[in-house]
Amino acid sequence: MLELKDIHGGYGKITILNGVSFKIPQASITTVIGPNGAGKSTVFKAIFGLLNIHSGQILLEGKDVTGETPRQMIGHGVTYVPQGRNVIPQLSVYHNLEMGGITSDDRNKVRERMQLVMDQFPMLRQFRDRKAIELSGGQQKQLEVARSLLLDPKLILIDEPSIGLSPNLVQEVFETLKRLRNNGVTILMVEQNAKAALAMSDYGLVLELGQTRMHDDAQKLLNDPKVGQLFLGGHMDDVA
Ligand SMILES: Nc1ncnc2c1ncn2[C@@H]1O[C@H](COP(=O)(O)OP(=O)(O)O)[C@@H](O)[C@H]1O
Ligand SMILES: [Mg+2]
Repeated sequence: MLELKDIHGGYGKITILNGVSFKIPQASITTVIGPNGAGKSTVFKAIFGLLNIHSGQILLEGKDVTGETPRQMIGHGVTYVPQGRNVIPQLSVYHNLEMGGITSDDRNKVRERMQLVMDQFPMLRQFRDRKAIELSGGQQKQLEVARSLLLDPKLILIDEPSIGLSPNLVQEVFETLKRLRNNGVTILMVEQNAKAALAMSDYGLVLELGQTRMHDDAQKLLNDPKVGQLFLGGHMDDVA
């Protein structure tokens, strides 16, 4: 579904990614873990066309999409849910959801998708006229995920969805992602909450200093003492 081949890139002249390579299959969940500043969010920006790529290749379903713009990536069925709170606080739940279709010219299609997405998230229909700010943190994240579904994506890039959520709300968001995966959507996620995230993922990727350090079945990474060390903030070289 998605392949990164030896990606080098960064911000302006500053290089952050120093050789990121991995492949993920369709209808899978992959969690990216690694220390703060490792370049996890930067990898997402690279895939979504928000980064200056110096060398390497990004392939989406075998097609070279290196250097394409976010608009083009959306056109290929890729959506991006950035870190933090991204709902528009004073806008209603319904209108926030509608924003997910803003790049589409087909208003009927968008309206149809709105209904389908609200069928998947009954909470959004229940609270459709409330301001987004009146939802709980977990509900706001659900709204962001729902909004990213408006264009019927094949691949969702979701950066730290669990930040600021209580453990049961985290599980709710994870359940939503699993349901999407079961419906054929491919999910690439960054998570600080590494243990819980790997436990619900198919694959895990450890990123350090802008490089892929490990890439394996999520279960294997969970059982790997080196990864345990990393969870505690250790440097991979200390335990290699
Ligand atoms: N817009 C930016 N301009 C310059 N440097 C940035 C920018 N965003 C992030 N960085 C730098 O890139 C590195 C990796 O950041 P990031 O990908 O956000 O890490 P992570 O998500 O793994 O915590 C950090 O050193 C950070 O300071
Ligand atoms: Mg980040």
